[in-house]
Amino acid sequence: ATPILFDCDPGHDDAIALVMAHRSPAVELLGVTTTCGNAELEKTTSNALRILEYLGASNVPVAAGCVRPLARPLVLGTADGPSGLDGSPYLPEATIKPVEQHAVDFLADKLRASAEPLTVVATGPLCNIGLMILKHPDVLSKIKQLIWMGGVFFRKSEIITPTEFNAFCDPEALKIVLDSGIDILMVGLDVTMQVLIEKPQYDELATIDTPLGKLVHDWLLFYEKLHRNSMGVGGAMHDPLALALVIDPTLVKTRPAHIGVDLSGSYTFGATVADYWGERGEKDNARIAYEVNAERFFKLMFDLLRK
Ligand code: BDR
Ligand code: CA
Repeated sequence: ATPILFDCDPGHDDAIALVMAHRSPAVELLGVTTTCGNAELEKTTSNALRILEYLGASNVPVAAGCVRPLARPLVLGTADGPSGLDGSPYLPEATIKPVEQHAVDFLADKLRASAEPLTVVATGPLCNIGLMILKHPDVLSKIKQLIWMGGVFFRKSEIITPTEFNAFCDPEALKIVLDSGIDILMVGLDVTMQVLIEKPQYDELATIDTPLGKLVHDWLLFYEKLHRNSMGVGGAMHDPLALALVIDPTLVKTRPAHIGVDLSGSYTFGATVADYWGERGEKDNARIAYEVNAERFFKLMFDLLRK
């Protein structure tokens, strides 16, 4: 199994990614850190704890992180309702608590303690990872790869936003991460908007007749409503796709590029801009996913929910 540290802001799609990480025998979940993003930190932390306890994974440590982006006021995501996980009234409050340590110190300690470099999966704004780089630069060499759900590059078809939320929420943190020299795989809207929950996926979910199947179904009903209203399509499995790449990296095709992030545009701050041809004269600093096999992704996701 691949040991991972998972930084997230649950969030319905983060929640499903968490479920997958816990259930996959190919993943060893060493710890979960939370950030502000889809909701305030207090709520994303409580959601992470509720999910883990519900899954019987109370032994997985959770460390709460940044309450706001590094250099901007907090902007909350809009797809998940005020609690960050609306639509799951019967998911009980957690009895477990986060560890005392701040996420940034927790991550650094886990990286230092590991004999081998570790994979970090991040599915929220990069506040924690950015701050960790500033505070604990010695652990950078212990990050094997950062798989991050964020960014948008090609802006094809229905993707009309100049910025993706995780990038938009904390672009300064993203800049720190991009400039850090870490091996980064960016899983942006270009691929995550290709893995949508539509009728066939609901039909498949309905065949999973377990409390977990029902919980995920109810999460998606809520999550989808806001997606459909704002974008006209079903719920995108953004964060589950990023997590799935730990299990099967061949689900996407990737290419290297130099990625810049706009920090000053009035309407485009947080926009991620790829240079494939070295025209800016800067070295490639990330790989970006540009194509996904949606069918194989959904098979993996449903197999994990069903098992
Ligand atoms: C990202 O933003 C959040 O709303 C989702 O959880 C996902 O991580 C998609 O833009
Ligand atoms: Ca997220």
